[in-house]
Amino acid sequence: MATYDLVVIGTGPGGYVCAVRAAQLGMKVAVIEKNTFLGGTCLNVGCMPSKALLHASEMFEEAGHSFAKMGVSVSAPKLDLPAMMNFKQQGIDGNVKGVEFLMKKNKIDVLQGTGKILGTGKVEVSADGKSQTVETKNIVIATGSDIARLKGIEIDEKRIVSSTGALSLDKVPGRLLVIGAGVIGLELGSVWRRLGSEVMVVEFLDRILPGMDGEVARQFQRILEKQGFAFKLGSKVTGVEANSKALLAKIEPAAGGTAETIEADVVLVCIGRTPYTDGLGLKEAGVALDARGRVQIDPHFATSLKGVYAIGDVVAGPMLAHKAEDEGVAVAEIIAGQAGHVNYDVIPGVVYTTPEVSSVGKTEEELKQAGVAYNVGKFPFTANGRSKVNQTTDGFVKILADAKTDRVLGVHIIGREAGEMIHEACVLMEFGGSAEDLARTCHAHPTRSEAVKEAALAVGKRAIHM
Ligand code: FAD
Ligand code: NAI
Repeated sequence: MATYDLVVIGTGPGGYVCAVRAAQLGMKVAVIEKNTFLGGTCLNVGCMPSKALLHASEMFEEAGHSFAKMGVSVSAPKLDLPAMMNFKQQGIDGNVKGVEFLMKKNKIDVLQGTGKILGTGKVEVSADGKSQTVETKNIVIATGSDIARLKGIEIDEKRIVSSTGALSLDKVPGRLLVIGAGVIGLELGSVWRRLGSEVMVVEFLDRILPGMDGEVARQFQRILEKQGFAFKLGSKVTGVEANSKALLAKIEPAAGGTAETIEADVVLVCIGRTPYTDGLGLKEAGVALDARGRVQIDPHFATSLKGVYAIGDVVAGPMLAHKAEDEGVAVAEIIAGQAGHVNYDVIPGVVYTTPEVSSVGKTEEELKQAGVAYNVGKFPFTANGRSKVNQTTDGFVKILADAKTDRVLGVHIIGREAGEMIHEACVLMEFGGSAEDLARTCHAHPTRSEAVKEAALAVGKRAIHM
């Protein structure tokens, strides 16, 4: 029987990163993956394919709408959807091969099959009717999440799709109805709108992007509406009927009331994700779940069963690849006897639309609710030189700093490349920095990042270009 120091179940960004870090620390490691490919949701049906399509569809829209005003004259772009899907697949394949390479380089055994925990130190791996048992000192559960379903709405991944189907449609839907104005709805809604769909988003709450700063969400909604998105907030879809020509979605006010019917060609259900623990044998093994079906862990990622840990989407916290990765590193270090740690106050979130939305730390709503006195510094991209010359001035940077200490508590950005700009705020916050620290840091000119510095100056009411 094979014996290991660590067996990781799942090879998404949580699992494979954990395995690599553990191997770096001298452990003998195996990963178990039920799919025939590595990389999990992120590489195969999540972050990577969505970003490939966001990039390609943005280029399509730019070629059609922005080139001419810069004096670049091209004939109207034509969409070759199979080629765009091929571009997406090449990106996925490249990344999956990268993970395979990392497994080899770090001498990590890859065991293909479904992992089931038999108890402390024992995991069964089953594939194609055959099974083997491996022994290990430690087990990390990194089995990720699955799409959340809506009662009464059957996902067929052709006309009624989850994100997985929406990443592989074989033609551009004339009318796309999106259920849920969260990250997936707005990113994949953007892809198909740019390629020609009429997009309507139905959202249960009275706002988009719950959890993000309210002012940011309101401005972002206006920008998306200008791009052609239609929103129906405070509404719920109670059923979808199909006839041969169209899908008929029944929509009601969230609080109940008169229903209306909206026709669509494709309905995308994206109302969140749920932790995935099927087939792991957790109940029999004695691994406790919390009330929301997530694997319950202590602050050191330990589950209720000795020698078994859990990380990533299957535990509490934001369902983000970088959060899973950082937990993977931390738990490997803890198992090796080091002080692995994740700072949950500094986990950035990015929506990869155009413009992008990024955020780290507290929102204004959270600070108000906690009774924290704060100052706000805001700077619009309309006043940023680089954004002006590129004629991409949508959005602003907003910095929230403690009123007494000036320590930066939250940073929120709407704008091109906001997903890259947020990281200087992350580093600053990781070091407990102040708005003054940021304002006194020399920023290269002309960059969009100068807007971050100006917003920091604005906290002290001394922005230069406004
Ligand atoms: P996963 O990536 O879900 O991996 C879990 C793995 O475990 C899978 O490979 C699964 O097959 C395997 N597994 C499960 N059970 C077993 C078992 N019993 N035995 C063996 N193997 C098993 N996050 C971001 O940060 N940025 C983004 O841009 C982003 N975009 C996204 C876009 C979409 C459309 C979606 C759906 C998600 C996106 N996410 C994004 C979220 C991100 O994909 C997840 O947070 C991340 O993949 C979680 O990593 P994980 O390692 O916990 O789990
Ligand atoms: P989400 O949690 O971001 O958004 C779901 C939305 O659906 C919410 O606004 C919610 O209020 C709404 N909703 C819930 N039930 C509803 C109903 N019955 N009718 C109408 N609206 C309803 O979830 P989403 O977009 O499915 O994404 C899942 C996860 O994947 C997220 O947690 C996110 O972290 C991750 N992800 C991250 C990305 C990124 O970092 N760029 C990109 C895509 C996904």
